[in-house]
This record gives sequence, C-alpha cells and structure tokens, in this order.
Amino acid sequence: MRVAVIGAGIIGLSTALCVRDRYPSADQPLEIEIYADQFTPHTTSDGAAGLWQPYLYDKGNTQETLWNKETFDYLLQHINSPEAKEMGLFLLSGYNLFTQPVPDPSWKNIVLGFRTLSQKELELFPGYSYGWFNTALMLEGKRYLPWLTKRLKMQSVKFFHRKIESFQELMAEGVDIIINCTGVRAGELQPDPELCPGRGQVIKVEAPWVKHFIITHDVETGIYNTPYIIPGSNAVTLGGIFQLGNWSQENSPQDHQRIWQGCCELLPSLQKAKIIHEWSGHRPVRPRVRLEHQAVRHGMLQSEVIHNYGHGGFGLTIHWGCAMEVAHLFGKILEDKRLAKPPHANL
Ligand SMILES: Cc1cc2nc3c(=O)[nH]c(=O)nc-3n(C[C@H](O)[C@H](O)[C@H](O)COP(=O)(O)OP(=O)(O)OC[C@H]3O[C@@H](n4cnc5c(N)ncnc54)[C@H](O)[C@@H]3O)c2cc1C
Ligand SMILES: *[C@@H]1O[C@H](CO)[C@@H](O)[C@H](O)[C@H]1NC(C)=O
Ligand SMILES: *[C@@H]1O[C@H](CO)[C@@H](O)[C@H](O)[C@H]1NC(C)=O
Repeated sequence: MRVAVIGAGIIGLSTALCVRDRYPSADQPLEIEIYADQFTPHTTSDGAAGLWQPYLYDKGNTQETLWNKETFDYLLQHINSPEAKEMGLFLLSGYNLFTQPVPDPSWKNIVLGFRTLSQKELELFPGYSYGWFNTALMLEGKRYLPWLTKRLKMQSVKFFHRKIESFQELMAEGVDIIINCTGVRAGELQPDPELCPGRGQVIKVEAPWVKHFIITHDVETGIYNTPYIIPGSNAVTLGGIFQLGNWSQENSPQDHQRIWQGCCELLPSLQKAKIIHEWSGHRPVRPRVRLEHQAVRHGMLQSEVIHNYGHGGFGLTIHWGCAMEVAHLFGKILEDKRLAKPPHANL
C-alpha cells in the first residue's frame, strides 16, 4: 500500500507521523512518501511565531475547539520530557488586551490559569481597559519541523522534493492513498473558492528582556490586525498584519512601519531592540478546516484522498488533533479496502 502525503509544513509532517505511528505496518506494509516543493526552514510553518492560541471564539465550531484541545493536551504531556527542547516546546504566559469588555474565549478552560486582568495589570498597558492573562505553550516550527522530519526518517518515510501538478499524476504512479496537506496553495490542485491567503508580516528582534506574550485586539479590524509581541527561544516576534486576499510575498515598508510603531507603543523598551529578520507569509484562511475523505477517479484509476488544509492563523495550535482525525479516516479506508478484497482461499 503506497501512501503519498503532499506538503511538508507542520500539517503534512505531523499527519505523516501520526499515520506512521498508528499503523506501523499492520498486515500489509505501508509505504509512506512525502512530496513537497518547500521544506523546513522555508515553509509558512517555519515563519509562524508558534504560540498555541486559537481565534477567540469558535462560533459553534466545537470540532475545531476539540482538535485545539487535543493538541494542547498532547503537547502538555511532552512539556517535562527531555525531548521538549529539541521539539521547540515550552510554556509561555502572557496577556490578551482589549479596549472594551468582551466574553471569555472558547479556549479559556484549555489553557492554564486563565483569568481577567486586575486594574493594576491594566495600568501597565495605557489605552487598554480589559484583558486576560493565561499560560499557554510555544511550539516553534523552526525546531519542531526538523524534529518531526528526523522521526519520520528514522521510520523510513521517504521524502521527495517535487511540485505536484495534479492528483492524477500520483494516481498514475500507483499511489493508493493521497493525503493533501498543501496549506494555502491547496487551491492549485483542485479549486477551492473558500480558501484564501491571509497575508502576515513579522519582524524578529533581539529583546531577551521580553518574557510574556502581549496580543492586542480590536473588534473592528479583526484578528491579528493590531500589534502583537511573542517572545521565542531566540528572538521576539513582532506582528499585527492580516490582509485577506493578498498573495504578495514581499515585505512591505508600510507594514514594517505599522508593526514597529504599534509594538513600540505597546512596549516602549522595544525601541532598543535589534532587528534580526523580517518575513511575510500566508495563513491558509478558510471558514473551517477542510478535513475529509474523497474518492477521486481518473479514467480507470481510483484513489482515496484525505484533505487536511485551511488551518488559518492557528495551524500549530490545532495540528495534532487534525493529524489524529486523519489517522482515524485512514483506518476506515484501510478497513474498507480489506473488506473489498476477496477472501484468501485456504486450500
Ligand atoms: C505571520 C504568521 C504568523 C503565524 N503565527 C502562528 C502562531 O503563532 N501559532 C499558530 O498556531 N499558527 C500561526 N500561523 C499559522 C500557521 O503558520 C499556519 O496555519 C500553518 O503553518 C499551516 O501549515 P501547513 O502545513 O498547512 O502549510 P505550510 O507550512 O505552508 O506547508 C505547505 C506545504 O505544502 C507544500 N505544497 C503546497 N502545494 C504543493 C504542490 N502543489 N506540490 C508540492 N508541494 C506543495 C509546500 O511546499 C509546503 O511544504 C501564523 C501564520 C503567519 C503567516
Ligand atoms: C488538495 O486540496 C486542494 C484544495 O481543494 C486542491 O486544490 C488540490 O487539488 C488538492 N490536491 C490533491 C493532490 O488532491
Ligand atoms: C499586499 O502586500 C504588499 C506587500 O507585499 C503591499 O505592498 C500591498 O499594499 C498589499 N495590498 C493590500 C491590499 O493590502
């Protein structure tokens, strides 16, 4: 049985690992291959800060809240393991700030120690009158992706640097099951009007004195369109850009100005920080994650595709719950294939 995973961002790699772990080889050996035209450190997943935090409200999509929770709990189990460092995993506390009172987020009981801010804390952030404090996790793509890659290679998963032009191409080569983890470019393989880039730009600075994340919110401009500051293991990520529909990969000087001014206003000590890097990427925005099984025909050929893309601005936050769901769908396909095969004659 040949399985091809398209995509080597956090979604493709973690999905491949989860399937590999659940179906070590069963009664029929599984050959898992990963195809991608970009690998770590060049994927969107590498550029993301890596904070575990979903959007504020799930708007009734409790399935995604569950996947987020499963990911948090899975990562929390690893927090005291010696592997945590190599995974790029650590606890991080911080603030979410608002200019008016808002309802509690869907994830208040997933993170640790969620509470609203005291008056004394709010005085630290002039201009903000309401907020939350909690402890969450950081999972840095630049470390986690190499860690996943190493584990996959140890389990003889093969990697191919190649752009896939169509599903049919892989079907014609004899692949039985395709797992589609192509992120924001999924629409190239099969048009998806619901998928859209949410362009972000971030400045990475050296500011080791920053120990908490600070995320501001403006109900008017929407998520991640106002300043945020997220300290990582090496650098602090400054951001606050979310442009829906903008495919440009260039860093924009206007966006740079907006991020810099906004973040320095929020935390004036950043004026002394040294800029080390700047990066733009595209969040794979979709009204909901696409995670489903689809049988695809091509002439006489049929193959099974499992889609897993459209994780917006929370791909690291949700990845493991989604990987487990794919493994579950994968098991069902294996079961169906086994049933469809004529039983062996034992003469
Ligand atoms: C500025 C910014 C900050 C972010 N911060 C966070 C954060 O703090 N926390 C969080 O949880 N999320 C964050 N995100 C969101 C997160 O980065 C994404 O949700 C996540 O990276 C999506 O992962 P992915 O594996 O689907 O896509 P990608 O990482 O983009 O990987 C896609 C893979 O598919 C391959 N591919 C695509 N098409 C083809 C093809 N036709 N043939 C071959 N290969 C193909 C690519 O080469 C690549 O390997 C942020 C995003 C941005 C832009
Ligand atoms: C992956 O999903 C996207 C979005 O629907 C689609 O455009 C693309 O064709 C799919 N790729 C494969 C190989 O099925
Ligand atoms: C899209 O991004 C580019 C920078 O890469 C910027 O110059 C342009 O103004 C942006 N467009 C919109 C509509 O935000």
